Amino acid sequence: MNLVILRLFHRHMRDKRMTTHIALTARAFGAEELFYTGNHDSSIEESIERITKEWGGNFQINYIENELAFIKKWKKEDGIIVHLTMFGIELEDKLDDLRLKSNNKCLVIVGGTKVPGAIYQLADYNIAIGHQPHSEVAALAVFLDRITKGEARRKKHSDASIEIIPMEIGKNTKQT
Ligand SMILES: C[S@@+](CC[C@H](N)C(=O)[O-])C[C@H]1O[C@@H](n2cnc3c(N)ncnc32)[C@H](O)[C@@H]1O
Repeated sequence: MNLVILRLFHRHMRDKRMTTHIALTARAFGAEELFYTGNHDSSIEESIERITKEWGGNFQINYIENELAFIKKWKKEDGIIVHLTMFGIELEDKLDDLRLKSNNKCLVIVGGTKVPGAIYQLADYNIAIGHQPHSEVAALAVFLDRITKGEARRKKHSDASIEIIPMEIGKNTKQT
């Protein structure tokens, strides 16, 4: 499944770390691209581009102004829409259904501040990762990991310039 993430309503300063962590999580767990709305923050884009250059892959991050126009266009032209919300249906109850759609492109929406009702209406699936409030980073990580059956996070990037040599104790990397 081609996985694209939409992070809603980024706020300068307040959300800097959170949005950066959403992008890092998206990249590490198999998404191809992240779009974000709210305040434009080129420093986040630069730091994600730097990491992608060093650690490999083709992950892209892009700012968009109008989330509703973007979502409506996606619905018409691109594929399915999953909105992650604690108010939705538990992921485990929809996993088989979602995996049957593995040939589709999938837009995964995560919020921050209050998500408007229109997003719930436009989503094909409102999916909960449990029904407790937690975090957009946690919700995204669990969703991507379950959808990709843990395979995406084990992927190696042939164009990486740095790689970790896993070890029981200590830290080691090699330049490639
Ligand atoms: C800090 S939470 C906001 C919670 C908010 N009360 C709401 O409307 O969901 C920010 C984002 O984290 C994600 N999130 C938090 N808990 C979740 C859960 N249990 N299941 C799925 N997504 C969750 C949602 O994408 C949510 O928009």
